Amino acid sequence: MAHISSSVYTSHVPAIGAAMDLGKTHEPYWAPLFKGYESSKEWFAQEKPDVIFLVFNDHATAFSLEMIPTFAIGTADEFLPADEGWGPRPVPKVMGHSKLASHIAHSVIQDDFDLTIVNKMEVDHGLTVPLSLMCGQPKAWPCPVIPFAVNVVQYPIPSGKRCFELGKAIGRAIESFPEDLNVQIWGTGGMSHQLQGPRAGLINKEFDNAFLDRLIEDPVGLANVPHIDYVRDAGSEGIELVMWLIARGAMSDVKDAPQGSKNAAKAPVVKKRFYHVPASNTAVGHLILENI
Ligand code: DHB
Ligand code: FE
Repeated sequence: MAHISSSVYTSHVPAIGAAMDLGKTHEPYWAPLFKGYESSKEWFAQEKPDVIFLVFNDHATAFSLEMIPTFAIGTADEFLPADEGWGPRPVPKVMGHSKLASHIAHSVIQDDFDLTIVNKMEVDHGLTVPLSLMCGQPKAWPCPVIPFAVNVVQYPIPSGKRCFELGKAIGRAIESFPEDLNVQIWGTGGMSHQLQGPRAGLINKEFDNAFLDRLIEDPVGLANVPHIDYVRDAGSEGIELVMWLIARGAMSDVKDAPQGSKNAAKAPVVKKRFYHVPASNTAVGHLILENI
């Protein structure tokens, strides 16, 4: 059977992708940020997952105000990097895993979560920057990726609680797939940032670090935090963090039985925790949690 070995969480700032693409990673502004991901890249290369289930948000690139899916699963065989105004990033195309993606769609929809099925989609920095941070600049991405897009751009957007419960359903779906696959689930976006209006440039280190603490230790409580708290304390784009709750919900200690109950699995091991300010207008957070 397929199993989820770990979850990875990271911000997706577009300027990070540009710094890599333009060879600026050693510049003083960027060096500390990329240093923070070095051991994560080594970890990833050793883990060799068979598939990544990558939760991200589209930034009005593949979708527009004409069509706003709340949750969309990419079931195609491949996904091309999008042109976000400066030409597509010079990164490999993303190979999908249509068989596993279709299985997950079937299982999760039957489990009462409505998904949009996407057979053609270009992927923007929300998906390609996390891949670049964890995999570097290979000729081909090391494994297939199932893109899972969440609307965190146009209200109404899903609650943290909904995301967390959906993550549990995705976890159950993945672990009922009959092939023996090592699957990682990634939650991306965040941390605190606001890109427009009088509060543009807002960064809240205290909020971000408390979020990391609670994502590790108290995901059930964290899932109950309402939107208004994110937007007030972490900025309008800080709401991207609800996507991390999807990946956290798929972890063993919360997926099958209430956290801490007799039947619950042990808490995941924290393999990596990193926080850096600033990158462009954004705080960068990064975690790796391994199932025991
Ligand atoms: C920035 C951050 C984002 O999450 C994004 O989608 C676009 C821009 C930024 O900090 O510049
Ligand atoms: Fe974003």
